[in-house]
Amino acid sequence: MWLSYSTVATIVLFTSRFVQAAIPKTVVLDAARLVAAKAELRRHVASPALKIALADLKAQADSWLTQGPWAVTNKTIIPPNGTIHDYASQAPYFWPSNTSDGCPYIELDGQVNPQSKLYTDHDERAAMFNASYLLSLAWWYTDDETYGRRAGDVLRTWFLANATRMNPNLDHAQLVPCENTGRSIGIIDFSQGYTSVLDAAAILGAGAPGWTKEDARAFEEWNVQFLEWLEGSAFGIEETAATNNHGTFALLQSAGIALFTHNTTLALNKANAMLPRISAYITANGSQPQELVRTRSFHYSVFDLVAYTRMADIGTKIGVDLWGYIGPSGQSIQQAIDFIIPATTGAELWPYPELDFEPYIASDVIHSGADHGNGKARAALSDVPAPPGGDLWLVRPASEQLDPGS
Ligand SMILES: *[C@@H]1O[C@H](CO)[C@@H](O)[C@H](O)[C@H]1NC(C)=O
Ligand SMILES: *[C@@H]1O[C@H](CO)[C@@H](O)[C@H](O)[C@H]1NC(C)=O
Ligand SMILES: *[C@@H]1O[C@H](CO)[C@@H](O)[C@H](O)[C@H]1NC(C)=O
Ligand SMILES: *[C@@H]1O[C@H](CO)[C@@H](O)[C@H](O)[C@H]1NC(C)=O
Ligand SMILES: *[C@@H]1O[C@H](CO)[C@@H](O)[C@H](O)[C@H]1NC(C)=O
Ligand SMILES: *[C@@H]1O[C@H](CO)[C@@H](O)[C@H](O)[C@H]1NC(C)=O
Ligand SMILES: *[C@@H]1O[C@H](CO)[C@@H](O)[C@H](O)[C@H]1NC(C)=O
Repeated sequence: MWLSYSTVATIVLFTSRFVQAAIPKTVVLDAARLVAAKAELRRHVASPALKIALADLKAQADSWLTQGPWAVTNKTIIPPNGTIHDYASQAPYFWPSNTSDGCPYIELDGQVNPQSKLYTDHDERAAMFNASYLLSLAWWYTDDETYGRRAGDVLRTWFLANATRMNPNLDHAQLVPCENTGRSIGIIDFSQGYTSVLDAAAILGAGAPGWTKEDARAFEEWNVQFLEWLEGSAFGIEETAATNNHGTFALLQSAGIALFTHNTTLALNKANAMLPRISAYITANGSQPQELVRTRSFHYSVFDLVAYTRMADIGTKIGVDLWGYIGPSGQSIQQAIDFIIPATTGAELWPYPELDFEPYIASDVIHSGADHGNGKARAALSDVPAPPGGDLWLVRPASEQLDPGS
């Protein structure tokens, strides 16, 4: 079951003189809203807020036109038991001990070992996530093929081109030298942003120049294989069972890929698996105890809500009502959004540990709650600071992690 195409069809019919592209089969973003926002901008009656959001989106996309593309084959070391085509990252806080071979590696929390940066995949992946998403959205709204072609290059280089492609696994993420050749928790390197890449490809698939049917088919096949790894590997199974944000993001990632690859059974299974998580990991007052114990408890409370709200948007497309779900003692996604509102607006101090409190990071999550009927969230919006680079919500209406990813 996809989204309600009848609404979209009406809008498309009305604006068919202008809209060349097909409707994107986005998995998280609401395609009807992308179509409606584009139509409003074309009719030159757009609200000032929408025009500003588009200008901010274009400014961000422009900065990506001259960077990249990125590739796992850029790294100068090969992960143990892996190949240059395997994504690899090294746990940043582990240091060699003062022994002849450096083993064992010792964790010095918060101190980044510069040696870990030899694995360039981690930083390049973050750029690839941002660039592909912003460039494809900029193409959607402007029809300027420069954006579409560049976004296509970014995706082809990272995922498809024989010389540079990433193998569809995360066997070597967050590895600790001497100890292991990768860890299950490294799946978060991808799960935190990958569903936006799926939407980028879906947008390009609606007719962007430079993203051929063959590219789309090959990218879908890559995702079928990646999903098999996520669902079948020991790491994938372990990460999905995590009780904190790692588990929420693992479910989101698998649900998004399942929907993208037309695996509706699995998408439903993943969305339904979110219901008991809402009851178990959000309390009746909306707190997320697993995230509150962190040294960056506001950051992690918001981060986990990015996954919950994005998963709820997937649920909407397949008939699983996560937005409306209320657990046996009142637990809900909206309650968890309410919990972060007073600190975000400055009405109250955040009383839990937080090394670097930045209220703007909750902007998307509060927009998302407001758009799904949360009156407190709607009332709060005018007091929520805009993220650096502008509030993109009106042109990109799905939650994103707004501070630099980990
Ligand atoms: C990374 O790889 C891409 C694709 O091969 C290449 O265009 C780019 O210059 C490389 N970047 C660096 C920093 O080596
Ligand atoms: C992985 O690599 C290490 C060191 O390079 C080696 O000792 C070990 O046997 C390898 N394990 C597997 C499963 O290949
Ligand atoms: C190794 O020795 C240096 C110099 O004494 C020290 O600064 C460093 O913390 C030691 N490394 C570890 C992992 O203990
Ligand atoms: C890429 O590799 C595949 C599989 O080995 C091969 O079939 C294909 O011809 C290659 N494509 C190019 C452009 O080299
Ligand atoms: C859905 O994905 C799972 C995991 O990769 C796979 O086992 C299953 O066969 C897929 N189902 C369909 C209908 O593609
Ligand atoms: C929220 O509920 C949890 C679990 O019952 C409780 O430990 C916590 O003190 C409550 N927090 C607030 C601010 O009421
Ligand atoms: C990606 O975008 C986010 C949100 O704007 C930003 O915080 C982060 O620094 C960006 N990462 C990179 C590598 O550009």
